[in-house]
Amino acid sequence: MIPQDFIDELLARTDIVEIVQQRVTLKKTGQNYSGLCPFHNEKTASFSVSADKQFYYCFGCQASGNALKFVMELDGLDFISAVESLSARVGLEVPRTGEQASPEQTEHRKSIYDMLAQCSEFYKDQLRQHSGRERAITYLKERGLTGEIARDFGLGFAPPGWDNLYTALAKTNHERDLLIESGMVIDNPEEEKTYDRFRDRIMFPIRDVRGRTIAFGGRIIGEGKPKYLNSPETPVFHKGRELYGLFEARKRNRKLERLMIVEGYMDVVALAQHDINYCVATLGTATSDEHIERMFRMVSRLVFCFDGDMAGTNAAWKALQVALPYMRDGRSARFLFLPDGEDPDSLVRKEGKDKLELLIERAPHLPDVFFEKLADGIEVESLDGKAHLAQLAMPLITTIPAGVFKQLMIERLSDITGLGSEKLLTAYGHTQARPRRQFEEMPSPPPEDLTRAGGAPRDSPITSQRQTSSELVAGAVSMLLRAPELAVQFDADVYEQLAGAEEFDLMLRLIRTISAQDVTSPSVLLAAFHDTPDFERLRRLAEQEPLLDVVDLPAEYTGIINNLIQRLESKSKQELRKSLLAKPFAELSAAEKDLLRDLTGGSPRTRRQV
Ligand code: UTP
Ligand code: MN
Repeated sequence: MIPQDFIDELLARTDIVEIVQQRVTLKKTGQNYSGLCPFHNEKTASFSVSADKQFYYCFGCQASGNALKFVMELDGLDFISAVESLSARVGLEVPRTGEQASPEQTEHRKSIYDMLAQCSEFYKDQLRQHSGRERAITYLKERGLTGEIARDFGLGFAPPGWDNLYTALAKTNHERDLLIESGMVIDNPEEEKTYDRFRDRIMFPIRDVRGRTIAFGGRIIGEGKPKYLNSPETPVFHKGRELYGLFEARKRNRKLERLMIVEGYMDVVALAQHDINYCVATLGTATSDEHIERMFRMVSRLVFCFDGDMAGTNAAWKALQVALPYMRDGRSARFLFLPDGEDPDSLVRKEGKDKLELLIERAPHLPDVFFEKLADGIEVESLDGKAHLAQLAMPLITTIPAGVFKQLMIERLSDITGLGSEKLLTAYGHTQARPRRQFEEMPSPPPEDLTRAGGAPRDSPITSQRQTSSELVAGAVSMLLRAPELAVQFDADVYEQLAGAEEFDLMLRLIRTISAQDVTSPSVLLAAFHDTPDFERLRRLAEQEPLLDVVDLPAEYTGIINNLIQRLESKSKQELRKSLLAKPFAELSAAEKDLLRDLTGGSPRTRRQV
């Protein structure tokens, strides 16, 4: 926890206008500043910032808040990271301990961690030394695991017997209490029995992102019930937020780019055994929004892996809905449905890494799963069916953060239903997506949470508001060089809006060449420019390491073109407005006055809502 005093001081030293100005071009309008809202796509400025109140507000999408909230929402930071980011700007040091955790509490948690670390060492020792270890080793070998993987995941062995761990580690009453509190030992005062929770099992330590053991899962060796036993909730273990294998994935894979979410401990370990090092498991619970938030803070691509059966389809649909509010531009989620009767462990053992990764590459993206599931059982050819689909889809789509992805979802719904996107929004979209949590309510992660160490969260690599037009153009050009057919996503007249400006010239020439010659091959496209002065530049761009997954290209490309057109429009509107403002008001025609009012943004009705 960060003391409120510090937050107050931080906000006092931070100027929201400065913060916003780094991302949004602001103009002084009377008391306030205004600009294009970074939280939704718009053509006229309805985003306003008050220097007085140190507060921002959007008349279009009702986004609002102070400087911290702005940084959290725009950069996808959690509260603590946002505080750190703002503090770094003004040279303040974030106090590490607050009123919440007393030194005694911190000390106590530390002794729980220490005890769990000792438990982990104990189980590992047993796997190396216990007289009955052969059964455990044989079992692990039968499951295809090597000693190296067992070591990396810290696998261990809880020997048969009621009190192996208890006897080994509870030398004092304090240690006994710690074993009970950490869930490793069960105390039954009525029967005066104290005994090990995990007996005769393969032990999987569950570690937090820092690598500290916080709980265990134990699998029975061979057949029997319950197949897995898990630690109960304890002061250091909360099932709903932990992901098994996250620490190991980050350790084995420094450049983690995506995460795949599977069901079981064994799946994670077996996949790692086959050199697929980006898998985590939820611990027998459904995917929570905390899980998704944590993962998206580390990577921008998630793959959800589910059984292909009814239960799997239902679980996927639930996970999809949980993920929607986190689908900022630049993030992707796909859904891998496994063949009947297989889990990732059995599949990777049968088919191998390459086949499985091919399945992952081909797994449908969120929008496909979304529309397929919603349209299931609806006759989308009928008018009723179209309306029904829109009615089901729009409340979910409104939970997606403003951006290109959301617009594409709306456009896709519009394609299916034949209803214009404006109509969809007015008829079914009034349930404005609430900001998912007010930051005041945002629980701060415990101080040991190191997820931030994953680096700054990523914006959409391409369509970020921060990028200059020429950066956007360079992005589009590289994409076209990789996949020329991207160009056909827009009609010629859309592109012609960009004609005339020098900065778009090369891009437009590429596009014209592609459409005139139906180019689909990157090398053919490049060859067409062989004799031009641009060849060197194009060749260099073509050789750049691609940032994006091929499947993400269409959405990113559309995003860029839309963004460029939008920028152009807002620029010409600003110029128009300037010229209108230059005239004396009395000389303006009624139409010009209307135009000016439109250009200035915000109808009187929306204004009153403030
Ligand atoms: P599964 O039954 O699919 O097991 O449970 P699995 O992962 O394929 O296990 P193996 O391959 O037979 O060893 C998936 C997950 O559900 C939780 C565990 O987290 C498990 O990894 N589970 C399952 C339990 O907590 N308890 C159980 O009794 C069974
Ligand atoms: Mn399995």
